[in-house]
Amino acid sequence: MPVSPISIFAPAKLNLSLAITGRRPDGFHDLVSVVAPLDFGDVLHVEAADGLKLTCDTPGVPTDGSNLVLKAATTFFQATAGAGAVRGAKFRLEKKIPVGAGLGGGSSDAVAALRGLNALAGHLLSLARLTEMAARLGSDCPLFLHERPVVMRGRGERIEPLAESAVARLRGRCVLVFKPGFGIPTPWAYAQLAVAAPHSYMPAAEAEARLASWLTNTNAPAEELLFNNMEPPAFRKYVALPALLDQLKTDFGFAARMSGSGSACFGFLPPGVSSASIIAAIHAAWGDSAFAMDTRLM
Ligand code: C5P
Repeated sequence: MPVSPISIFAPAKLNLSLAITGRRPDGFHDLVSVVAPLDFGDVLHVEAADGLKLTCDTPGVPTDGSNLVLKAATTFFQATAGAGAVRGAKFRLEKKIPVGAGLGGGSSDAVAALRGLNALAGHLLSLARLTEMAARLGSDCPLFLHERPVVMRGRGERIEPLAESAVARLRGRCVLVFKPGFGIPTPWAYAQLAVAAPHSYMPAAEAEARLASWLTNTNAPAEELLFNNMEPPAFRKYVALPALLDQLKTDFGFAARMSGSGSACFGFLPPGVSSASIIAAIHAAWGDSAFAMDTRLM
């Protein structure tokens, strides 16, 4: 059993397509989403220790029991009690993913904790068991157990890894990811869809047909996958988002969309356009508190 500290990369994610298809009896929403991890993220260092402790190099990130890393660890220790596995841990989080962004930072950190602890425990828990635990921690957690683009269904707990022919159209694509200084609370974003029901939802059959069409048309580029029906309510309230997206389309031919419930947006870089000029335009519009960087789909 390894005893030395291990470091787990916790990537950010983008919802390349996101179709919210309806509200469920449990209050959550059903969705069909193609999600890709990014070559950009946090790093979680894990080592076996007495008790449970989290430190983070970024000020403002909670390191108490409200952090999903510690919730994940508690869940893991409960599930493995009596199995003779590691009983406590010390975590150090190198935080790079902005919070409240729809980039899955907290969820990815939680799954990094599960993966790290499972590695320290000699891979005691199966992927199916880890998926169950991840789903209880958050709807966006299970996807991070797969280090590749996936289709996410249900409220996020049903994961289907994409076929290699589809992954080949995504992996390595350069994306520019950017976010204003403010975030959008996920529960608020979903609540707006519920208020505007039923026309705010895309029927599940239509969402599946769109996805099937992209999957079977092997010439369809990643750009044709992009869709997000959480945009209209978010754009009505947070008008800075559509204002800048329109400007970037006009000035650079750069077509960007919102990721997940926002506020982060992203787009594929058009050939021959430098990210530096677009990043400068983003900072000119949204100020120094804006986050902007280019990275790749993993
Ligand atoms: O699962 P998670 O804690 O990330 O969800 C945060 C909130 O987002 C939920 O309480 C719910 O209001 C909303 N949500 C939803 N349907 C989903 C995912 C999230 O309604 N599939």
